[in-house]
Amino acid sequence: MGGNWKCNGTVEGTRAFATELSGVSLKADVDMYVAPSSLHVCTFRDALSSQVEVAAQDCWKGPCGAFTGEVSAQMLRDAGVTRVILGHSERRTLCGETDLCVRKKVIDALANDLVVSLCVGETARARADGTAVGFCITQLESVMNHVPVSEWYKIIVVYEPLWAIGTGIAAEPETVQQMHAAIRKWLAEHSCVEQAAEIRITYGGSINRTNYRDYVHLDDVDGFLIGGASLSYADFIEICMGSSAGMKTFESEL
Ligand code: PGA
Repeated sequence: MGGNWKCNGTVEGTRAFATELSGVSLKADVDMYVAPSSLHVCTFRDALSSQVEVAAQDCWKGPCGAFTGEVSAQMLRDAGVTRVILGHSERRTLCGETDLCVRKKVIDALANDLVVSLCVGETARARADGTAVGFCITQLESVMNHVPVSEWYKIIVVYEPLWAIGTGIAAEPETVQQMHAAIRKWLAEHSCVEQAAEIRITYGGSINRTNYRDYVHLDDVDGFLIGGASLSYADFIEICMGSSAGMKTFESEL
């Protein structure tokens, strides 16, 4: 379960959120991370005393050096950050990140021992013209083909269709399951079924406290990356607590 705060937050609000989170005891089957802005990462880390992990929303594509405005994976790791979101569609579309750029970032992040949330997702046009799966698989393979299979477990695949992010219109559960199954199939074909089953595939795009239950029972949905709703502590906690694998089992038994 991840929270992506994007370009939001204040020092005081970040501290208050982390302090509240510190009182939460997570179920054993829930991994939780929050990605504040890079400005607020250390504030968040310092106020946090729980199993929740601190993530970055992006990192530079290589080692430290003369790269004005950038933060490298090595610097993140040094600051106690354990995860990084890479390939988010807002980075791809607003900042011009190519598949090659995303690949370089993933490789450097893994080399610095960061767990990567790798975002893939199709445009509205690709969804409309029936090429959504191919669109996402191209993004996926442009990274995974260059990472040794033995390291795939350090990558969480995040399916985030562009048309569902921040729009209030989440992809239909059936659409999400189909895409996640296609991603898992690709992973299995390029490793093995057992390994593909271990890789977490999470969904992001207008998940909130009223709709998340429609997704938790889906076979290939292993969690969420939550944007807007993660800015509210109450909403984020409700979604995270309600999405544990335990609830998935419980629901599927009904
Ligand atoms: P959203 O964003 O939940 O606000 O749609 C998700 C994301 O971009 O990670």
